[in-house]
Amino acid sequence: MIDLHAHILHGIDDGPETLEEAVEMCRLAAEDGIETIVATPHQRHGFWPNTDREALEVLFEELRAAAGGKPELALGAEIRVDSELLREVDILPGGSLLPLAGSKYLLLEFASVPIGPDPRPLLHELMVAGWRPILAHPERIPWLVDQPTLLGELVERGVLLQLTAGSVIGELGRGPQECSFLLLDEGLAHFVASDAHDAHIRPPRLSEAFRAIAERWGEGRARQLIDQNPRAVLENRQLSVHNAR
Ligand SMILES: [Fe+2]
Repeated sequence: MIDLHAHILHGIDDGPETLEEAVEMCRLAAEDGIETIVATPHQRHGFWPNTDREALEVLFEELRAAAGGKPELALGAEIRVDSELLREVDILPGGSLLPLAGSKYLLLEFASVPIGPDPRPLLHELMVAGWRPILAHPERIPWLVDQPTLLGELVERGVLLQLTAGSVIGELGRGPQECSFLLLDEGLAHFVASDAHDAHIRPPRLSEAFRAIAERWGEGRARQLIDQNPRAVLENRQLSVHNAR
């Protein structure tokens, strides 16, 4: 299993506070059967802008050395969407933003209130510029949950959706679970990731979600969401199946 979304670098956002806790998270992930984690600290977030890309890389190398390859680690970010995002994305790779594992995939987080009248132009511009946007946990963003047709339309245009494992297994409440089920039923979800923040309350765990998806939608689907599609991101390939029911 590959985890595309985890706050596992210490002391820079609402993830682990110490290197020891980050290493413990790695240990738990490996124990759960996770082969690779992409560390995705918040970027451009109001509380955690994390604009110093080199500082993130230093922290990442420190954790990578401490984790000793179990699991493998890659670096990315969960990038908050705002009106200035496009300008910075235009200057990548020289800018401060971190795509997932150096690929063309960007993990984007919308705020829980809409950023403007319509997210479509921004996402369109990103794709025209060659980026592949992945929306982090749409099932937990109220104004997206309220617009299933918009999500369907975005997916049709090439936007990819990442669900949180805790939403799928009901740990985050009934609303996120219902929305996740709806998106899975419609074949609109492309990834399931842990969005881990610590070793206790929100640990990096995917096996339970894998089992739940395998039971309801088949093992092939579970593999696609938690192994094959995230692997394509790590290898900077197109997903083999974009929208599989
Ligand atoms: Fe996150």
